[in-house]
Amino acid sequence: MSYHYTPAVPAAEAVSQLCGWTEKYRTERGHAPLAYVHSYGCQQNVSDGEKIKGMLAKAGYGFTDDTSQAQLIILNTCAVRENAEDRVFGTIGNLKKLKEENKELVIGICGCMGQEKHVADKIKESYRQVDFVFGTFAYNDMYSMLWEVISKHRRLFNQSEVCTEIDESMTQLREDKVRAFVPIMYGCNNFCTYCIVPYVRGRERSRKPEAVIAEVTQLVREGCKEITLLGQNVNSYAYGFPQLLRELDKIEGKFRIRFMSSHPKDATKDLIDAIIDCEHVCTHLHLPVQAGCDRVLKTMNRRYTVEKYMEMIDYARSRVPGFSFTTDLIVGFPGESYEEFCETKELIKRVKYDNIYSFVYSRRSGTPAAEMEDNVSDKQKGLWLRELLLEQREITSEWFGRFVGKTVEVLIEGEGRTGEGWLTGKNDENIIVEVEADKKYIGEFVKVRITKAMNWALSGELAE
Ligand code: SAM
Ligand code: SF4
Ligand code: F3S
Repeated sequence: MSYHYTPAVPAAEAVSQLCGWTEKYRTERGHAPLAYVHSYGCQQNVSDGEKIKGMLAKAGYGFTDDTSQAQLIILNTCAVRENAEDRVFGTIGNLKKLKEENKELVIGICGCMGQEKHVADKIKESYRQVDFVFGTFAYNDMYSMLWEVISKHRRLFNQSEVCTEIDESMTQLREDKVRAFVPIMYGCNNFCTYCIVPYVRGRERSRKPEAVIAEVTQLVREGCKEITLLGQNVNSYAYGFPQLLRELDKIEGKFRIRFMSSHPKDATKDLIDAIIDCEHVCTHLHLPVQAGCDRVLKTMNRRYTVEKYMEMIDYARSRVPGFSFTTDLIVGFPGESYEEFCETKELIKRVKYDNIYSFVYSRRSGTPAAEMEDNVSDKQKGLWLRELLLEQREITSEWFGRFVGKTVEVLIEGEGRTGEGWLTGKNDENIIVEVEADKKYIGEFVKVRITKAMNWALSGELAE
C-alpha cells in the first residue's frame, strides 16, 4: 500500500498562508527564508526542479546554493540506477547534523525516489530528519504539505498514483536565460524490462501543441537561444512529433531546437525529414539503442532489431552524410554473454556515434529484469564498460575529423577547459567546441573555423 495524503487545507489557502509566513519572516529577519533545491537525474527532473522553484518563489522564498543557509531543503531525486539512489541516501544522512543545529529547517524528498514506497518506508523508519516525502504525481499538493509541515510540525508521506491533468499554470523558475528545457510529455508506456521510469512516472501524458508553441514563442521573445523539448519518448507525442517540430520551426528569431529522447521503435523517416527540413532544429538525433544484439534487445522489451535501427541511421546518412547520432547503452544486462556484448561494440563501429552514454546494468526491484538470472560479475561488467569506452574514444577522434577545416556555428556556454582565454560551447551536432575568444561572446552564437578534432571536443578559431 502506498501512502496517501489528504490535504488539511487546499493548495490555494496553503499558498496564501505560506505567503503570510514568508512575509513575516522577511520583516523579522530582514531577508526572505531561503530554499535549497537540488535535482538529480535527467533533464525532465531538472525541469521539474525548476517548477518546484517557481512554486516556492510564488510563496515568497528566496534561493541559496548553500544548505547551511537554507530554511528549506528539497532533494528532487532520481531512481534510475542504484548508485543514484545511494548518493541521495548519503546526502540525506549528511543533513542530520544541519537539522540538529537548526530545528526550524524543513527537509523534503521528492522526484522519482519519492514515488517509491520502499524509499518512503526507509526514510520514515531511519531518516527522521526528513519532514516530507512526495512523488512525481504530488506537485499540486506541495503547498499544502509544506504549510502543514511548517505550521503543525507533522511528518508527511505522499506517494499518490492519481494522475491529474497537466497543470499549465505552474511556471518554471529558469536560471539559465540562454538555454531552456520545455517538457512536451510526461511518463512512459514502454516498460523496458530493466527500467524503473514507467513505475515512478506513470503513463504518457502529452501537453497540447498550443501550450508548447506558446511557451517556446515566449522563451524566444525573452532571448532564449536553445530550447530542448523533453519527453521519455518524444516520438509517441500524442499530437504528432514531426508536426510539432514543423510548427515550432515557424517561430521567428535566432534560436535552436533540440529534443530528447527518441525511442527507436517509433522513429520514422518523417522525423528525420522534419529534422533536416527545419531550419531551427539541430541535425542531431539521440537514439538510445541500449544493445547491439537482437536477443538482448528482445529480452529488454525494446521492440526493434539491430537491422530496423540501422535503417533509420542509413536513411538519415543518405540525406545528410555527417548526420549526428548519440546513444545510450547498457552493459551487462542479465544473461548477456561476452559475444553478445561484442555485438554492441560492432554496432557502435557501424553507426559511428559522436558520443555514447553507457551504463553498467543496475538491478531495479519491481522490474521484470530484476527477476532474471544475472551471472556476470560486477567486476566483469566494469571491464566491459571500459572496453566499450575505449572503442568509442577511437571512433570519436576519427569521426570528429569530418569537421576539421569547416566553419560551424557554436552557442557559447562559458569558460573553456583548454586554458585561460578559451571559451566552450556546442555546435549544431551537440559537440563541445573550444575557441579562444573574448568572454563577451558567452550566451551568443559565433562562427568557429575548426582546426583540431580531439577525442572529447573540437577546437578552432573565430571565423568572423
Ligand atoms: N526514455 C529514454 C529512452 O528510452 O531512451 C531513456 C530514459 S532513462 C532515464 C536513460 C537511460 O538510462 C536509458 O536509456 C538506459 O540506457 C539507462 N538505464 C535505464 N535503466 C537502467 C538500469 N536499470 N541500469 C542501467 N542503466 C539504465
Ligand atoms: Fe525506460 Fe524504456 Fe521508458 Fe526509456 S522507453 S524511460 S528506457 S521504459
Ligand atoms: Fe531518473 Fe526519474 Fe529521470 S528515474 S533519469 S529522474 S525520470
